[in-house]
Amino acid sequence: MRKLWEDPQKLHENIMAYHSYFFSYEKKENALTYQREKSKGFTYLNGTWKLAYFNNPAYCKDEYLKTGIDRSRWSNILVPGVAELQGFSNMQYTDEGYPFPIIPYEVPSNDPTLLYHREFTISKKLHTIYILRLDGVETFYSLYINGKYVGFNKGSRLSTEFDLTSYLIDGKNEIALKVLKWADSTYIEDQDMWWTSGIIRDVYIYEKNEFNLEDISIQTKPKDNTYSLDISFILSTSINKGKRVLLELLDSNKSPILIEEIFDFDGNKCKKSLNISSPNLWSSETPYLYNLLVILINEENQIVSYSPFHIGFRFIEIKDGLMYLNGSYFKMHGVNRHDHNPKTGRTVSIEQIKKELKLMKENNINAVRTSHYPNDPRFYELCDEIGLMLIAETDLESHGFMFMGNLSYATNDPIWIDAYVDRMLRHYHNQKNHPSIIMWSLGNESGMGICFEKAYKALKTLDPYRPVHYEEDREAKVVDVISTMYSSVEKMEEFGKNPTKKPRIICEYAHAMGNGPGGLSEYQEVFDKYPSIQGHFVWEWIDHGIDSIDKNGKHFYKYGGDFDDYPNNKNFCIDGLVFSDLTPSPGLIEYKQVICPVKIVKKKESYFVTNAYNMINLSHIGIKYTVTENGFVIKEKKISFDNQIKPGQSTLLSLGSFECKENADYHLNFFVYHNKWANSLPSGFNIGSYQFELKKGYKFKNSSEITQNLIVDEEDFLLKIQKKNVEIIFNKVEGKLISIKKDGQDLLLKPLNLEFYRPVIDNHALYYKENWEDKYLDILQEHVKDVVFNYNDNEFTFLVKSIIAPPVFSFGFNCEYTYKVKQNGEINVSLKGEPFGKFEPFLPKIGSSMGISKKFSQIKWYGRGEGESYQDSKSSSLIMRYQRQIDSLFTPYIYPQDNGNHMDTKEMTLSGNLPSITIYSNEGINFSIWPYNRKTIDKAKHTNELIEDDYYTLNLDYSLTGLGSNSCGPLVDEKYQVKHKPFSYGFTLVL
Ligand code: GAL
Ligand code: MG
Repeated sequence: MRKLWEDPQKLHENIMAYHSYFFSYEKKENALTYQREKSKGFTYLNGTWKLAYFNNPAYCKDEYLKTGIDRSRWSNILVPGVAELQGFSNMQYTDEGYPFPIIPYEVPSNDPTLLYHREFTISKKLHTIYILRLDGVETFYSLYINGKYVGFNKGSRLSTEFDLTSYLIDGKNEIALKVLKWADSTYIEDQDMWWTSGIIRDVYIYEKNEFNLEDISIQTKPKDNTYSLDISFILSTSINKGKRVLLELLDSNKSPILIEEIFDFDGNKCKKSLNISSPNLWSSETPYLYNLLVILINEENQIVSYSPFHIGFRFIEIKDGLMYLNGSYFKMHGVNRHDHNPKTGRTVSIEQIKKELKLMKENNINAVRTSHYPNDPRFYELCDEIGLMLIAETDLESHGFMFMGNLSYATNDPIWIDAYVDRMLRHYHNQKNHPSIIMWSLGNESGMGICFEKAYKALKTLDPYRPVHYEEDREAKVVDVISTMYSSVEKMEEFGKNPTKKPRIICEYAHAMGNGPGGLSEYQEVFDKYPSIQGHFVWEWIDHGIDSIDKNGKHFYKYGGDFDDYPNNKNFCIDGLVFSDLTPSPGLIEYKQVICPVKIVKKKESYFVTNAYNMINLSHIGIKYTVTENGFVIKEKKISFDNQIKPGQSTLLSLGSFECKENADYHLNFFVYHNKWANSLPSGFNIGSYQFELKKGYKFKNSSEITQNLIVDEEDFLLKIQKKNVEIIFNKVEGKLISIKKDGQDLLLKPLNLEFYRPVIDNHALYYKENWEDKYLDILQEHVKDVVFNYNDNEFTFLVKSIIAPPVFSFGFNCEYTYKVKQNGEINVSLKGEPFGKFEPFLPKIGSSMGISKKFSQIKWYGRGEGESYQDSKSSSLIMRYQRQIDSLFTPYIYPQDNGNHMDTKEMTLSGNLPSITIYSNEGINFSIWPYNRKTIDKAKHTNELIEDDYYTLNLDYSLTGLGSNSCGPLVDEKYQVKHKPFSYGFTLVL
């Protein structure tokens, strides 16, 4: 006989009928708080449980389930919580592969087994139903109450209910859960995330009267000038004489709008349609929620319960290949979200979820895909409230069958039909009444076949309105929306040009691993251009790093492989727009700007503002502009404009004219902010900024007067140039600038070198292997060919010719360094290179670096900021004047890599506990400053391996290849690739 947990046709036993998630309250005012803790008999069973752990289920003897046995020697475990992070079985991370051999559909005999146990007290009342609800248990479990078997369940992230009424006794009760880590269902829960187990979400008991509301389905539909609110109920008993049901509708302030009694019942069922004329409609931008109370009254004319429901009036339809929300066309600017917390793994608190959703809104995100499983039921309520559109995905992925050569193996095996259909229905019933869910998703990366066809049909029978998504039904032969992942910009353009009868989304793109993603604005341009592309979702929201402390007490994050887990997919799960602790990464800041719902563009000599919201006008928006001269604000003004423009419309901004002088840069900068509360964001909140160059003309002028002649000493291999309190030293043999001293203090600690390499970023890692590592780009050699110098009283010139090239091959650069030291304290540096030999691939960068004193602590600059910028990720960083602590410029990517670049920098002053130094460039250069050298960063695999140098590495670069998103997606755009071509640039150091 097959084991229960190795039989795909055994889904669960004795679980309750699926219904929408809600609670019943005894008091109206409690009902209207929606706090489930105030609902009838609500009791959490969270907290510390006893745990017996076995590495094989066979060791878990039946007698351990008995009541009253001594469990004092069992371990403790926190519920909700991931067992692996509390010391039971091992964390493992794989992207696709199952962590055991594929033997359909069997699992390892040594299957980590967690026997959970706790006591709880119930004062048992008559005519009361006791329901136990579990919102997430990984993976397979059977439930025992007071030693008696109740039922079992599979479906790790699906809520489950058991009716405990006949099992509970008055007073002390015992609950035990036998949880297995692996089950047949593991084959269809192969999402790209940590493999964990245990009771990962809340466990609670709640009560219902015998006469209760069992389920409710709510649908809102436009009808002539009104909306109909269609409600169907299922009650626990037929309505007989005396029992009554009332409906009360209240507005968002909880003031009553109408009360209706329901009369026409068909046994225990009823359908009711209410017509509401011009209701406030729900959208992600106007998340208006009405309150509906379902009030049950018994034969004695007593109110037995109030059940509250948020109602969002909204209707989704597809017409001529486009989706409409309440008749309006819309676009989703989204992210893919996993549950993750660095301390507790897949267990996340509701406070964290709130924080995440707020952060999304603050970053202009209007949609979320619940990749790749249902979330805590309260997540959906929060999205209704804050205004986010959801692609609600159920718990289903069988990616690992790819390694069998047939990704569709399970999906096409009829043995799974019931499981696939069931997972869709459970998800549907639980969440069906949420206005925020505008699309269902059948699952992820499981090939295509009969099981999904059946799941789709079952779902559409129940919900004919919401579109259904499933990415691997590539041409949407079955589902309603076409979807792809990681398609290139060109591919999206082609899709956009060739719309089909079904709307399209890109459910994953812009893989946000490490430093990146770059190229967001190129994508956005295409998304914005083609109506048929109605949504785009960055992969992904959060890094799945696990908090750790090394033996020296230093914090770092662990990822795949750090738990001795093997096989593993290393840091492939560190690919979020926010770090594991929810700190926004530079990628999120860029995304926010790129999807800003108020766009400002320049056409000819005029500036226009475009309303890129889906539903609302711009009456909540203020726009301010500044004009900057060499980064200094010389003018600042609020603009009045036609803020009534509808979505998709543009209007002219009248600004007047600006006077630009010679020899300076001028920029026009726009700041877009809220001037009142709207779209869940407060007044004063900045949603975006834009910059336009008015004139380029910056010219560095040295104001320091000529002081005193240069004195040059030739000492053996060294050349020492002295001037008052300054000493500059060159090495004639090495051809290097090796020292700069002022007032006796060393400013320069490592010589200036040309550099063509940078610590590999995740988004270049695939390219690196073949094109850079094998070509030894990280160990280029420099051969000095010629050193020439000459001087007079006013100027000293040092010219070096060298070849910089890798070993083994015959390509590289013929380079030239020219230094001019002047009487007024300037050191002009010009750097040139001519390629020789053949090297087709692109280079990491062309630039230079040097080591400077750690006594510098502050930096001021005129250039892009305030965060980092790269060629293909700079829409959020304006050219301005900035000031920062040097140490704050390093971005601590969980897997250390190149970071902290600032483009278009024309002036920077380093200062601190020593004489300051200023660097000028009329053309603008890139700079970054790290407390670690490039080799240390490149070698480190975790942040705790970064050992500080006793100098700062200052990179002054000509050009860096863009970031792209090639860690899972197309190669960085050709126009952002640095090629093996001639270059020439320079800068001036002023002491
Ligand atoms: C997709 C998948 C995601 C994740 C991503 C790469 O193929 O749907 O779950 O694996 O790639 O990070
Ligand atoms: Mg996958």
